Amino acid sequence: MGAMQDRRAIVTGGASGIGRATAHLLARAGARVLVVDLDGDGAEVVAREIRAEGAEAIAIRADVTLDADCRAAVERATEVFGGLDTLVNCAGVIRRANAVDLAEADWDLVMAVNVKSVYLMAHHAVPRMIESARGAMNAGGRGGAIVNIGSGWGLKGGPDAVAYCASKGAVVNMTRAMAIDHGPQGIRVNCVCPGDTDTPMLHAEARQLGLDEVAFLAESAERPLARLGTPDDIAQAILYLVSDASSWVTGSVLVVDGGGIA
Ligand SMILES: NC(=O)c1ccc[n+]([C@@H]2O[C@H](COP(=O)([O-])OP(=O)(O)OC[C@H]3O[C@@H](n4cnc5c(N)ncnc54)[C@H](O)[C@@H]3O)[C@@H](O)[C@H]2O)c1
Repeated sequence: MGAMQDRRAIVTGGASGIGRATAHLLARAGARVLVVDLDGDGAEVVAREIRAEGAEAIAIRADVTLDADCRAAVERATEVFGGLDTLVNCAGVIRRANAVDLAEADWDLVMAVNVKSVYLMAHHAVPRMIESARGAMNAGGRGGAIVNIGSGWGLKGGPDAVAYCASKGAVVNMTRAMAIDHGPQGIRVNCVCPGDTDTPMLHAEARQLGLDEVAFLAESAERPLARLGTPDDIAQAILYLVSDASSWVTGSVLVVDGGGIA
């Protein structure tokens, strides 16, 4: 039996990078997974890959900045899987600019994708998770779990990323607020703060800064463990926080960064 046997999970941003690795890992651990992404074709590809491995997954195209799309994603998972236990909020964007250079539209986008989406997904998912948790806990089982993806830059500042730093600081403290609110309802809420991880987002950062990608990635690897993170490094931490291995952990912030901010 896998650590996520019989769990029903939503992973946003599941078409790429950390979300994709997480969808795969949760499915390999026994969960049924709804892959949610603005890139609907990419989400479908990941769901198909998971099914090809013999696990259960479906996909939905959703813009997590929109209330109706978040509602539709939660309803889809609940209907198809018969309940909802697990939510991983991985969808995210970055815009590398300081307050002088950043366009207002980019501030709004970063805050909407990185912060508002966490509220919207919880707004729709938590009531479903409470219903599912009530049933499971009555039977002597466990409750639900949410993991929000923050960043090392939610805990410290960084250059030319004013909106991103603001958004990830918000995610870290929203996690604590949600843990306080929903712990009594059987829902644990935790945050994983990755350091530089080799995903399309990191390559996009180099391009936004006008830097050579190879040099940028090499510099990003400068940390005590002397390499970039892999999406699977982060997914393993997420799996811990959504599984029963962390059954007394809530409101916590787990830094997974090869020692970068140590
Ligand atoms: N890669 C890193 O170095 C790093 C470091 C710290 C934190 N993070 C965080 O990890 C999370 C995952 O990032 P990643 O590196 O895997 O990036 P990624 O670009 O590979 O994946 C992000 C996914 O989010 C999706 N997405 C973007 N806007 C969306 C929207 N409005 N609705 C639905 N989906 C949307 C994208 O289509 C993409 O599939 C993000 O929250 C990011 O901020 C990444």
